[in-house]
Amino acid sequence: MTKKPIILGIESSCDETAAAILTEDDNKNPKILSNIISSQVNIHKKFGGVVPELAARSHIEKIDWIVEKAIEDSGVKINEIDAIASTAGPGLIVCLSVGLSFGKTLAASLKKPFIAVNHLEGHALSPKLNSKLEYPYLLLLISGGHSQFLNVKNFGEYKRLGTTIDDALGEAFDKTAKLLGIEFPGGPEIENLANKGNPKRYVLPKPIINRGGCNLSFAGLKTAVLKISKELKTNQDKFDLAASFQYTIEQILLKKTKNAFKEFEKQQNLQEKKFVAAGGVAANKKIRSMLEILCKEENYISLFPPLEFCGDNAAMIAMVGLEKFKLKKFNNLNYPAKPRWPLDEDAAFLKGAGVQLQ
Ligand code: KG4
Ligand code: ZN
Repeated sequence: MTKKPIILGIESSCDETAAAILTEDDNKNPKILSNIISSQVNIHKKFGGVVPELAARSHIEKIDWIVEKAIEDSGVKINEIDAIASTAGPGLIVCLSVGLSFGKTLAASLKKPFIAVNHLEGHALSPKLNSKLEYPYLLLLISGGHSQFLNVKNFGEYKRLGTTIDDALGEAFDKTAKLLGIEFPGGPEIENLANKGNPKRYVLPKPIINRGGCNLSFAGLKTAVLKISKELKTNQDKFDLAASFQYTIEQILLKKTKNAFKEFEKQQNLQEKKFVAAGGVAANKKIRSMLEILCKEENYISLFPPLEFCGDNAAMIAMVGLEKFKLKKFNNLNYPAKPRWPLDEDAAFLKGAGVQLQ
């Protein structure tokens, strides 16, 4: 019997320090042996967002014992690890450098291959951690830093179909939360408040809803929420605004996902069409159920990572590491941290003022 690959994944691109050990079962399905995450929410919440210098310092303080604990919990011996995979980008360079340097150093000392992982590829492959998922599939990646539709043609082959031209969806949730006096990160709490509110109470704008294909825009929403937030009097007003905001997001994603289906079908002629939503915002139950219903109506199979793998984690980094290990795609120890690293390197940069959309 051949030895099953054992991969150590390390994640430190933003405000989670994480390590995981992944292997395969007898049917070649991924098997998580350990998954350790330490969140820095308590450090950053009083600042209303992630402070890079503090985040990096916290990664430095924790990385060694997080990796040690992941190895200990997995039950494997350090010498049995076959490769070390670290997130190399995109993210905050001071944060990325911590997990990247740690992974490279460990790989060198154990004389094992080093694998540089794109964090977005980790999110893209996260549903594979608990379900069989063959390529190609349509991916909606919605996180704190990114909002994109991608045609995932194959492992490592991505075609961007649409992206946000301003704020990421998670950023829109966090900014709205701040205006409602909710601590960072506000996404999960907005979801809680929205459950108590009337989603039809406030009519909010849906920027570029009727143009720009499946590109997205959320910045105008924030301005509208800012105006209304100044007039809130009761808790019920606050719940209603949270619910109206979330409902507007659902409406935008509904329309844009339909557009993305059309784009995807132009590129892939398939009997069995699959749709995946991943990233922190994909943990939102209302958004998930709206997308699930849409998929049923439009004859798509929908797949979502389990809630614990929507947010940043190292199991998804090890998942990419495992795929690359099997293809012997290793990296040199001088591989740089990349603050910007798009999955589709050929896609035009579509952010900021003056973006032209059809
Ligand atoms: O994927 P992630 O953990 O980190 C990045 O790669 O950015 O995503 C974090 C984002 C935050 O903006 C957070 O507010 C949002 O995901 N988020 C949510 C929910 N849970 C996390 N947004 C809406 N509803 C949620 N339940
Ligand atoms: Zn992420």
